[in-house]
Amino acid sequence: MVVVSGSNSGPLAKQLAETLGWAHHGLETRRFPDTEGYIRIPSEVIEAIRSEPVVLVSNTFPDSGIVETLLMLDALRDVRKGDLQNLRNIGPESLPDVGKGVVLAVPYFGYSRQDKRFKPGESVSARAIAEMLTSRCDALVVLDLHAPAVLEHLSVPVAFTSAMPELAKHLKETVNPDFILSPDKGAIERASNVAQQIGCEFSYLEKTRIDAHTIVHKAKDLDVAGKSVAIVDDMIATGGTICRAADALRSQGAVEVHAACCHGLFTGGAIARLLRYVDGVHATGSLANARDVISGGPALARGVHQVLEQLSL
Ligand code: R5P
Repeated sequence: MVVVSGSNSGPLAKQLAETLGWAHHGLETRRFPDTEGYIRIPSEVIEAIRSEPVVLVSNTFPDSGIVETLLMLDALRDVRKGDLQNLRNIGPESLPDVGKGVVLAVPYFGYSRQDKRFKPGESVSARAIAEMLTSRCDALVVLDLHAPAVLEHLSVPVAFTSAMPELAKHLKETVNPDFILSPDKGAIERASNVAQQIGCEFSYLEKTRIDAHTIVHKAKDLDVAGKSVAIVDDMIATGGTICRAADALRSQGAVEVHAACCHGLFTGGAIARLLRYVDGVHATGSLANARDVISGGPALARGVHQVLEQLSL
């Protein structure tokens, strides 16, 4: 079986291939001068893609990632269908259809934020993007999706996988925290699993988001005096959530505070801001970032195994 990737997920695709013991191939990706994307499956990769199931690792972030993912899925589908017709008459131009076997693995699912319709007329963007993608593949694997419920009724098997086991192992080996904190109710399940794996205490905060840059936490007594604490979240964007949580921890006597997440978006100087509040920032490489210290390969591999079993491939 083979793992392929385009321009935005090469390192993680290699980690996945290594974990699975499969080959990895990069697809050709270029940009036309007007910035439109071009993709091609290199001739030497066509046979591998037709002879076994293939996993495409690709992010839907930033926006250009959505288009590139769709184009790569389209090209993979044509190659597996045996539709190789081309204007230069490079042969063979037609081969037998080899059937199902394209799995899309999305490390960071961009557009997962809008997963509900709050006002009439709003697009449920997470669902819209997922439906477009799954019309062109046979199964979907998504890493640490903020709220999986929105993707639960798609037309193909979906595996929601998580890098929290690897994140817990990394924290245990490097920070060895006494306490894990979830900065809001949404991260409770992830963070409490991390605490359980490390074998340490756990609690959570209640957060209210005022706008994209302003959040407030409800005051809460945390038993953190003299302790080393790791705040665990699915993603860090502006860093506002973590900075406020770190404030609460320091004011209650925490001596060391770390921030750990799956998706390190780190927008607008977030790392510099975070380092004024925490002693360390730890992330996976689900998308390229300066704090990529945890491999997402094993988590994606668990998801791939799950959907291959469901597809009986
Ligand atoms: C939202 O609930 C997420 O789990 C994160 O807490 C949030 O996206 C982090 O954003 P920021 O770093 O901008 O506070």
